[in-house]
Amino acid sequence: MRSLQEQFTNLSKNNKALLAVNFYNFETLSAILKAAAAQNTGIILQSTKSTIDYLGLEVTAKLARAAINQYKVDAWLHLDHAKDTDLIKKALDAGYDSVMIDASEQPIANNRKVTRQVVEMAKPYGANVEAELGYIAKLGQSKEKAAFTQPDEAQQFVEFTGVDALAVAIGSAHGFYDKEPNLDIELLSQIQECTPAALVLHGGSGIPDHQIQAAIQNGIRKINVATEVKNGFMNTLRDQLPKSDEIDLRKVFPTAINHVQNLLEEKISMVNKA
Ligand code: 13P
Repeated sequence: MRSLQEQFTNLSKNNKALLAVNFYNFETLSAILKAAAAQNTGIILQSTKSTIDYLGLEVTAKLARAAINQYKVDAWLHLDHAKDTDLIKKALDAGYDSVMIDASEQPIANNRKVTRQVVEMAKPYGANVEAELGYIAKLGQSKEKAAFTQPDEAQQFVEFTGVDALAVAIGSAHGFYDKEPNLDIELLSQIQECTPAALVLHGGSGIPDHQIQAAIQNGIRKINVATEVKNGFMNTLRDQLPKSDEIDLRKVFPTAINHVQNLLEEKISMVNKA
């Protein structure tokens, strides 16, 4: 199977993108892979440090790899929002195909320095490296404090670090939106012209389809979705549990798995139509 870097190059030629979806347990992992298999498409599976803390690194990596083989999907395993180079090294050793170093909250000089270190660290593994430049509000952070990615800074950052993929701040934020987001597509197109890096859209949950499609047309190659998966899974369980006294969890989870699979199939199809 081709590396994620090669896949991004291929996607760039055709102005296409991959969905990158966070998983939290076997149930969400299988929902993502079932959706990708049903839509006959590649997918990126993401785990954050919190999922690794919950499952353990070895289980996270091996479970994902075994599930990828079982569902026969072209899928890449990515470490999402790592702040710590030790965790990145461990994830690479555990077989991750791709890692994100998120030093976006540090001064830009530190961000450049640590990103370059991670690029060097990932080289022997042939792994893809993603960094973030600008302010993309994390859960609980103010969505008003806008510091969008500047094209010249992006160009210098990618040249200096050699990073493969870059998360850009163009008006998205993590978690649900209080009001409809308004992505700055013009800025995105300027960033795309300045840099060969695969551009990444964080905060994909709740962005209207037409804006996601416009973003893909203007350089976004990876779209991250997490909140809609958690929300869809938990709301389905919340609806179902009071109506039943079933104790066999294997009969309870499939409804939530199917719900997440359906919502992801719709998203994949929308992304593929861009
Ligand atoms: P959402 O939780 O807003 O979908 O964002 C996901 C994300 O960007 C993960 O890095």
